[in-house]
Amino acid sequence: MTLMTEQTSNALPAADPPAGGPPTASVPTADPPATAAPAAPQAAPIAQAGSSHARTIAVAEHAAVTIEHVAVGVEIEHLNAYYGQHLVLRDITLSVRPNSVTAIIGPSGCGKSTLIRCLNRMHEVTPGARVEGQVRLDGDPIYAPGVDPVVVRQRIGMVFQRPNPFPTMSIFDNVVAGLKLAGIRDRALLEQVAERSLRRAALWDEVHDKLHAPGGALSGGQQQRLCIARAIAVEPEVILMDEPASALDPMSTLRIEELIDALRTSYTIVIVTHNMQQAARVSDRTAFLTVGEDRAGYLVEEGPTAQIFTNPRRRLTEDYISGRFG
Ligand SMILES: Nc1ncnc2c1ncn2[C@@H]1O[C@H](COP(=O)(O)OP(=O)(O)O)[C@@H](O)[C@H]1O
Ligand SMILES: [Mg+2]
Repeated sequence: MTLMTEQTSNALPAADPPAGGPPTASVPTADPPATAAPAAPQAAPIAQAGSSHARTIAVAEHAAVTIEHVAVGVEIEHLNAYYGQHLVLRDITLSVRPNSVTAIIGPSGCGKSTLIRCLNRMHEVTPGARVEGQVRLDGDPIYAPGVDPVVVRQRIGMVFQRPNPFPTMSIFDNVVAGLKLAGIRDRALLEQVAERSLRRAALWDEVHDKLHAPGGALSGGQQQRLCIARAIAVEPEVILMDEPASALDPMSTLRIEELIDALRTSYTIVIVTHNMQQAARVSDRTAFLTVGEDRAGYLVEEGPTAQIFTNPRRRLTEDYISGRFG
């Protein structure tokens, strides 16, 4: 199907500055040394000519208020990921279903973060890092020649482990940073998108009377919801979350889990978590990765979360979920 008529997205880098460090750029970039090139308003076909899934992303001043969400699936096909010569993910084949929450679990270092960074072409931003295989977003091959990673990152947003709003930028400007970057200046539209995004991120009630206070003045949990609002504002179809609550207190964690539950109706969500109770609580399906003898991460099994946690097919999974390993 074509999404052209249903959904129009604003062109901008969907993601944030590096997790863990203070943002250095004055605008959100698509992560660390990112393809820093800010997306200009554009119409960029993600798919190659001839694909039945060709879809145009166009910036339209009024599109953001009219679009309906069309969450899409992600197909990971025989994906290998390297840092230099080091193979860190081996032959990953996994279907991420639309409008669902897929949890990725596994021992530290098995490649969970690398895997989700491959899903919006952020892995390759690390010098020397590369990918083999394919990832399809609603059928569109994101690693096909000519595909613009910036466009991919508009469709697949990301939230990091450590909340990373721009600390001195206002709450309002944090939320609409991506739209402004895409050249949208219509104040009424920006206000509409900011309110809608903050409501969806379950933060509106707490900040509506202080939208011009700095993002950095919020609590950690509020900052993470602000980052989710910022990701949502650009209308992605998929949201990737890398241990989004691991730096938060239990109450804030609960809020994030409730939010994930609410967002699953509009988005396809992939969440990395080292917390198995959290995976069991928030996800529909769970993928378990582990590290092979060659030190490359691989997929052991994937299935409905209840089945993975109560009746795994593989011994390795059973050992991991029962705490005997990892
Ligand atoms: N920037 C990097 N350069 C080189 N190796 C890396 C880099 N980031 C991660 N790795 C390695 O890749 C492997 C997988 O890491 P990662 O995806 O972060 O695992 P996880 O998120 O499951 O803990 C680990 O062996 C890690 O040391
Ligand atoms: Mg990680």
